[in-house]
Formats: sequence, structure tokens, C-alpha cells
Amino acid sequence: MEAILLVGGRGTRLRPLTISTPKPLLPTAGVAFLAHQLARAHAAGVERIVFATSYRAEMFEAAFGAHAHGVDLAYVDERQPLGTGGAIRNAARALTCGPDDPVLILNGDILSGHDVPAQVKLHEQAGAAVTLHLTEVEDPSRFGCVPTDDGGRVTAFLEKTSHPVTNQINAGCYVFRRSAIDTIAEDEVVSVERETFPALIASGAVVMGHVEPAYWLDVGTPEAFVRGSCDLVLGRLASSAMPGDPGERLTLAGASVSPGAVVRGGTTVGRGAVVEAGATVLGSVLLDDAFVAEGATVRGSVLSRGARVGPGAVLDEVILGDGAVVGPGNELCGGLRVWPGIELPPTAVRFSTDA
Ligand code: GDD
Ligand code: MG
Repeated sequence: MEAILLVGGRGTRLRPLTISTPKPLLPTAGVAFLAHQLARAHAAGVERIVFATSYRAEMFEAAFGAHAHGVDLAYVDERQPLGTGGAIRNAARALTCGPDDPVLILNGDILSGHDVPAQVKLHEQAGAAVTLHLTEVEDPSRFGCVPTDDGGRVTAFLEKTSHPVTNQINAGCYVFRRSAIDTIAEDEVVSVERETFPALIASGAVVMGHVEPAYWLDVGTPEAFVRGSCDLVLGRLASSAMPGDPGERLTLAGASVSPGAVVRGGTTVGRGAVVEAGATVLGSVLLDDAFVAEGATVRGSVLSRGARVGPGAVLDEVILGDGAVVGPGNELCGGLRVWPGIELPPTAVRFSTDA
């Protein structure tokens, strides 16, 4: 089976991490995020993937080349971002399958443990134009809300509505009949969620929902990105792309963790990164050459390449850009983002929850 992987988004919710690296290439549990998706796609029977690229397009081929994780790869760039539907139509030029064959379409920021072959089987048995993987979330307003009837047929597609009619959402993995992709206008900006799906449903085409409550996460926010990386390290979602065994932490080659430090909760310690004695690092992502000094505490945070946390500093759910420096004694929390290269002098910032 062939697949199209949507990787052209700008990843703005993950800035400053995505200033230099597109979201699907961010190091996650020791490898580029997409490595996990490629490995899982291969295990599900996908043999060839066409990347639909736009933002920082050249970085994808440089990262994966013509073959990776058991899958043959092709790349189709958009001169202007074409939106999700336009990107699918554009990338379909590089497909080689026949008009009735199923094509898997994947959002490039999803970790999912669902049964792709079962989704494809439902699609074929129903003779569907499109079959969507659906899952349930607490807050459906941030996603595509997708009600189905008793037979599993999709009855509406409501993208990011403030009045969701169900907790069942679009999980960002579709099976399209190859010929159904040709209903999307060529060389135009099209949203598959706001235009293509509603139009297919209105036209009476068979659009099915494969509902499966397996592990599922969209890593598009800082909090979710950290959670996804830690879940992979902890083995909550198995990935053959992870460079090590599941456990409390993943320490990459060349990293140095003092025996007197506590590092757990699915933390990744990147190449050349250092955690000194007396430091505590819980559920975090330390990229290459990051540095956590003695007595510092880092929780639920991302330290980008070369970022440094000084002695005794405390970081709680903080993103440090490349080379950012937090001086000794600072206390930062609550989603704070420090831009690349910024240096906070000693005890410049202290957030307190005390009354
Ligand atoms: N090539 C290309 N061109 N790719 C794009 C473009 C574009 O213009 N715009 C977005 N993408 C890619 C992104 O890189 C991402 O992999 C995917 O399309 C979805 O974009 P997001 O920006 O992550 O969308 P979202 O998370 O707000 O919502 C989507 O995913 C939800 C599930 O996580 C929608 O599909 C929702 O309906 C869905 O519930
Ligand atoms: Mg997303």
C-alpha cells in the first residue's frame, strides 16, 4: 500500500522549537519524530510514502533520503502551502497505484497505536470513498468533530467547532480510494477538513469511521510534544525506531548523567548532554549538548540544543530554545518559552504560587 504524509505545516504552536526544525523532524525519544511514524507505517504494510512538503521542504529528504525504516520514500513540494486537501491532491501525482486502490493519508504529527490494517479492511468491505480513524477526546473543540450513525457511517464533519455534537474526533489518519483524491481541485488551496470531507458527505459518497480507542496523541503543542516523547521512552506506545529499550530514561551515546542525579519519567538525554550531581530531571526532553547544572530541577520541559540550566534553577513546563541560558537560582514555570540565545542572569525571574 502507498501513503501520503502531510508534513507542510509551520508548527507555530511549537515555537521556538520549530524555528529551525519543522515539527515532524523534532527529536522525539532520540530520533526524528517521523521515524516513529515511518516504522509503524511499515509494520502496518505500507511500502511507499509520498511526503507532501512545504515549510522547510528540503530538510525532509536530507533526513530520510529514498528509503528509511523499511519504506520507499518520495517527496513532492508545494511552491505555496496548499492546505491539507491541496497537499493531498498535489502529492497524489507521485502515486503509482490504480484508481480503486486504497491510499493511506497521515497527518505528520500523530502518534497512534491503532490497527491500520483493520481500518483498511473496513474501508474495502464498505466500498467507501474515504474511511477516517476516529477517537474520543475530552475537548473535541480543538479537533475535527465527527459524528457517525449506527452503521459507522460519517454523518458530518465539523472542524474546530465551538459546539461539538460528540467527543468523537478525526484522528488524522485516512484511507482514501485513489480516485476520490481526484475530486479535490488541483493547484488550489483546499482544506480536506473544511471542504473535501463535508462535500463528500453532502454528495452521498460513503465516508466511514473506524472508531478505535488505542493510544493516540497529536504532538502539536509543547505539552503534548513532551508527553509523546516520554510515552515512547516509557514504552506506552511501542516504537521499533527508538534507539534503546523502554524505561524511565533514554540516554543517548555521549550523554553524561551523574550517578548523583535523578533522571526519570521518560526523559531523553541527548548526545553530549550533561546532567550534574544533585540535579533532578523528570519527564523532559534534553536535546544534544543541553546542560543541567548541580541542584537544578527540570520537569515537563524541553531543553533545545546547547541550552543550559544553571545551579539550583527550577524549570516547570518550560521550553528553552537553542543555546538559551537560564542563570542560577531562576524559577520558571507555566509554559514559559525562552527564545534561542537568550540569557537570563542569575535569579532574574522567580514565579511563585505562594499567596
Ligand atoms: N503539505 C502541507 N501543506 N501540509 C500541511 C499544510 C499545507 O498547507 N497545512 C497543514 N499541513 C500538515 C501539517 O504539517 C500536519 O501534519 C497536518 O497537515 C495537520 O495539520 P495541523 O496543523 O497539525 O492540524 P490540527 O492538528 O490543528 O488539526 C488536524 O488534526 C487533528 C488531529 O490531530 C485536523 O485534521 C483535525 O480535523 C484533526 O482532528
Ligand atoms: Mg496537529
